[in-house]
Formats: sequence, C-alpha cells, structure tokens
Amino acid sequence: MKKIAVFTSGGDAPGMNACIRSVVRSALYHELEIYGIKYGYNGMIEGDIYKMKSYSVSNIVQRGGTILKSARSKDFMTKEGRKKAYEQLSSRGIEGLIAIGGDGTFTGANIFFEEYGIPVVGAPGTIDNDLFGSDYTIGFDTAVNTALEAIDKIRDTAMSHDRVFFIEVMGRHSGYIAIQSGIGGGAELVMVPETSTTINEVINALQKGKDAQKTSSIVVVAEGGEEGNAHEIAAKVAPHLPKADIRVSTLGHIQRGGNPTAFDRILASRLGLAAVEGLLNGEKNVMVGIIDKEVVYTNLKIAISKSKPLDQDLIRLVEILSI
Ligand code: F6P
Repeated sequence: MKKIAVFTSGGDAPGMNACIRSVVRSALYHELEIYGIKYGYNGMIEGDIYKMKSYSVSNIVQRGGTILKSARSKDFMTKEGRKKAYEQLSSRGIEGLIAIGGDGTFTGANIFFEEYGIPVVGAPGTIDNDLFGSDYTIGFDTAVNTALEAIDKIRDTAMSHDRVFFIEVMGRHSGYIAIQSGIGGGAELVMVPETSTTINEVINALQKGKDAQKTSSIVVVAEGGEEGNAHEIAAKVAPHLPKADIRVSTLGHIQRGGNPTAFDRILASRLGLAAVEGLLNGEKNVMVGIIDKEVVYTNLKIAISKSKPLDQDLIRLVEILSI
C-alpha cells in the first residue's frame, strides 16, 4: 500500500483534528502518501481531494471542529454516488481509507467496502459515545465537560431563584453524555433513552427533593428519550407541581465545539496511529477502538449494529446521591 486518504464525516467532534494530525504524520512516518478528502463523502464524490504534508496539520491538535470539514452526504447513499467516489479514488491510485466519524459514516464505509473492496479503517469520532468496539469515542469527553460547565452555571441561577431546571443534552439515542454530565453536575434525576423514566417518576423525584428541603433541582434529559424533549417533559410535569418555578435549557451544538480535552487529544492521537498501522497490517473493514487500554479492531458491521449498554451502576449512583 502506497497511497491512503483520510476524511471526516457526520457530526463533527472535538478531537477530530488531533486524529487527522495523527493519521497524516503516522502515514508519513510509514512512508505512505496521504490525501485529505474534504467534506466527507461529498468531497469523495466531487474529487475534493488534496495531498497532505506534515505541515498541513501543524497547529491543529488543540482545535475543535475539523480542518477537513464534514457533511452528511445524501449522494453517497446512492449506487451512482458511490461509483463516482470510487472513480475519484482509483484515478488517484488511493488504496486505503481512514474514515473518522460515527455510525452514519461507518454504515457508508461498510457498503463501500462491500461494493468496491477498498480497505477502510474507521476511527470513532462522535460526541455520542455510541459505538460498540471502543470504551470512548473521540469528542465524548470534551462534550461531557462542556455540558458539565453549563450545568454548573445553570445550578448557580437555579439555586439563587429556587427553580427546577430541565437541561437537555445531546447524544441522539444514547444517554452517555446525560449520565456522565448528570453525575458530575449533581443532578437530582437523569433521564436516558436506555432506561424508561415515567413522568410520575419525575414528579416523585422532584417532590422527594422538596420534602428533603431542597430549594432547587436539576433534571438532565438526554435527547431521544420516549417522554419527548426537555420542553415536552417540563410541560407534562408542570401541572402536577404548581408551586415549582420551572425552566428549560437546551444546550445544543455548544456540546460539539471547543478545544478538545487532554483525554480526547490523546485518544485521537492513539487511534490515528492505530488506524494507519491497521491498514498497513491488512485490516480491511473495521473500526479501531480502545478497550481496557488496548487497541482493538472491530468489524464495521458489528461496531454500528451492536449496542453499547450504559453502565447500570451509574444510573443507581444518580438515584442514591440524589436523596
Ligand atoms: O451525532 C452527533 C450529534 O451531535 C447528536 O448528538 C445530535 O443528535 C446530532 O448530531 C445533531 O445533528 P445536526 O448537527 O445535524 O443537527
């Protein structure tokens, strides 16, 4: 293998740049030519591809976002789009791909591999931490810390006004950001999609807090839960607690930005090197991850289809600490 390419796709995540840097420098270390594909699969289809040098990734290890830009490509979902992408790669002699992204990115990569056989190694880059095959994904730790900082600030105002706050965090169908930021932020209750929490349970938890002479409460709500978003949940709870002064705050895309934490930079750097060396060692259709400190390669199909369950101990921890 002489030429490989790297791209980022799907929702950006802090630490993607550190991973790009690691891929580029590891490839050069192994005397490979390395190409950057811009705008994910859209750039692959359009031929938005350039040769990268060591200096192409200078001063990016600390930056959020992705210098290669990102997109969620509709065209790549079509056979015609993938054919164009293949032609762009083969006309440049690109023999292997490193895809940094989440489940949508890897779904595309897996289909592409099955159709055209170009070896691909995925590096898990998503704030959602929802990929089987790695304890943590790039960006998750930063997103949790960003959410936590926001929760701390909201707690100040909640405390000053004796209010109940419903704070919605991202995660799509996963409650990882919610549970970790909820524990770190001392939430009275955390609602995650993995475990059902009824409106009655929310009311009871808040009432219990009141009875224990708490003057303010924080409920962290993961998006994607069955009771709806934080506004919907607050609206269902409000009539049952007429004396409560309720507010809702949706943290949104702030969780996707910012300088990556040390943890994310180191994780991204390790995964970048392991992705390049995986390709060189003949890995073909896998996601690289770290489990219990060890680098592991998981078939892409398994990485996207197997669920990564939330640690039930963490849910229990919230319950116990909120009395
Ligand atoms: O997958 C990352 C993520 O930030 C999810 O947590 C969220 O549901 C989604 O992307 C938001 O996507 P978009 O940026 O397209 O609105």
